[in-house]
Amino acid sequence: MSADTPGDPDFIDRTRHAYDAMAEEYAARFPDDALDDLPVDRALLHAFVELVRAAGPAPVADVGSGPGHLTARLDALGVPVFGVDLSPRTVALARRTHPGLRFHVGSMTALDLPDATVGGIVALYSLIHIPDGRLTAVLAEFHRVLVPGGQVLLGFQSGSADGTTERLHLAERFGHPMDLDYHFRAPETVVGHLTKAGLRLSARVVREALDGESRPRAYLLAHKAA
Ligand SMILES: C[S@@+](CC[C@H](N)C(=O)[O-])C[C@H]1O[C@@H](n2cnc3c(N)ncnc32)[C@H](O)[C@@H]1O
Repeated sequence: MSADTPGDPDFIDRTRHAYDAMAEEYAARFPDDALDDLPVDRALLHAFVELVRAAGPAPVADVGSGPGHLTARLDALGVPVFGVDLSPRTVALARRTHPGLRFHVGSMTALDLPDATVGGIVALYSLIHIPDGRLTAVLAEFHRVLVPGGQVLLGFQSGSADGTTERLHLAERFGHPMDLDYHFRAPETVVGHLTKAGLRLSARVVREALDGESRPRAYLLAHKAA
């Protein structure tokens, strides 16, 4: 297992390999109606959409879009949106499921997007694969591509309130061997990284874990100064 430090050279390759390996199984667990039973989560997505609309016509990037269910929901809400994901097999699957939507292979560590061109970034359960030492730089990358007034919605499983990042390592999932790290952080820790990256916090919400979930869910809304 590699260390989760800025020197960890291969976390991107390991994450890509893991999601390529489990692309079909992951997609089966997150169909387009995955938010239907999650009214609080859905309300936050809707608040994000309202804020993005107020910021102008620039599109939203769903970063770490996975099977594309959030991309599809944003599209259904009338928001111009595209998905970006590290895993080519996941992107291929998202394209097959949603032929009318755009999905690109790419990494949030170096987005293939010009400066100040997206009106919003939604990153749900994808920052959990970024080690602590890289998190500020990823959020600075979000800041770079956002238009002034652009919005960010982050969602992640909440970690311990004592501020330490809990790491979970998976060597196998759905029967596929892998070498995948998850990093669970307190919302306050992520707020610190957002602030260092130049983004301004608008709201923080934690909802308790539902049946079948092992951790509370944290949502952070932030924006780039207008
Ligand atoms: C747990 S899934 C979440 C998918 C979707 N956002 C959702 O909420 O269901 C994490 C996704 O993030 C992608 N991912 C992980 N690291 C990434 C990176 N550096 N850049 C872009 N996508 C990444 C993975 O390939 C995977 O599809």
